[in-house]
Amino acid sequence: MPYPIYRPRRLRESPLLRRMVRETTLGVDDLIYPVFAVHGRGVREPIAPMPGVFRFSIDELVKEIKDAAGMGIPAILLFGVPASKDPRGSEAYADDGIVQQAVRAVKERIPDLLVITDVCLCQYTSHGHCGVVEEGRIKNDPSVDLLARVALSQVEAGADMVAPSDMMDGRVGAIREALDEAGYQETPIMAYSAKYASSFYGPFREAAESAPQFGDRRSYQLDPANALEALREVGLDVDEGADIVMVKPALPYLDVIARVKQEFGLPLAAYSVSGEYAMIRAAGRLGWLDEERVVMESLTAIRRAGADLIITYLAKEAARLLERQRFGTGL
Ligand code: PBG
Repeated sequence: MPYPIYRPRRLRESPLLRRMVRETTLGVDDLIYPVFAVHGRGVREPIAPMPGVFRFSIDELVKEIKDAAGMGIPAILLFGVPASKDPRGSEAYADDGIVQQAVRAVKERIPDLLVITDVCLCQYTSHGHCGVVEEGRIKNDPSVDLLARVALSQVEAGADMVAPSDMMDGRVGAIREALDEAGYQETPIMAYSAKYASSFYGPFREAAESAPQFGDRRSYQLDPANALEALREVGLDVDEGADIVMVKPALPYLDVIARVKQEFGLPLAAYSVSGEYAMIRAAGRLGWLDEERVVMESLTAIRRAGADLIITYLAKEAARLLERQRFGTGL
């Protein structure tokens, strides 16, 4: 008897066969590109721990986003760095806040691109927390009221979708209600449902100047040791009207992505965060990893785990590599 009858290597032998039996695809349509807007003109400020990522003034941001849209990237996730901070993060819901101004400019100049806005207070508050602080504690319900105001002001400025990242209880329902009451029943919510209290956010906090000035975020973000709790959080957001749910970070939480996809089957986004980006870029720069291959492998792994959409600072690089792959000249 020849051994074995089933030889898995038969289907791995030729590149064409490998392409045909491949289970997971990665496409430019799956990518969301996160960007940072700052006040001023002609600003293109590098972020030290995130080489290749910049803080752009609105004029420069429009150029950057045009470039991304030209590569086929369908959506951006917009963050703002305000001119000044106060305890209640008032620029977050100001009509002339940095995000509101940026949304108007981008929608006017690049109408075909989907603009998603991050709904949070931490960049805007003097204490750096994602909610209102009273007696040294982060208060849930007063924060939710402000977050609903933030979301509404962003949608009034023209945002196509809002993405609450604060992790306060009940915020998705409150935002849904505020949008509906104002006549924005059609505007979807992408909820950062399972957002972990992760040290992988370090570089982002430098980019957005959003590090907490006292304590940490463990009283509102998820404990990295918990997965069942993540499922409960997703369930709540779905009940409150979330259209897309999110797991964040991505690579260290692939198991959570897989379980959320299996259990809920809803459109699922994964946020491959600043620390994941920093690790890949740093090792690539040192020549310790083949950066291009690691980029494609990582993004494919996040899709394989079950994410439909990937929020990644590597969006433009991935779009370039996918284009090259399409013409069969690389990877
Ligand atoms: C704001 C927010 C954070 C990130 C996205 N929105 C930081 C945080 O919660 O401290 C992290 C994104 C990244 O690391 O790329 N709440």
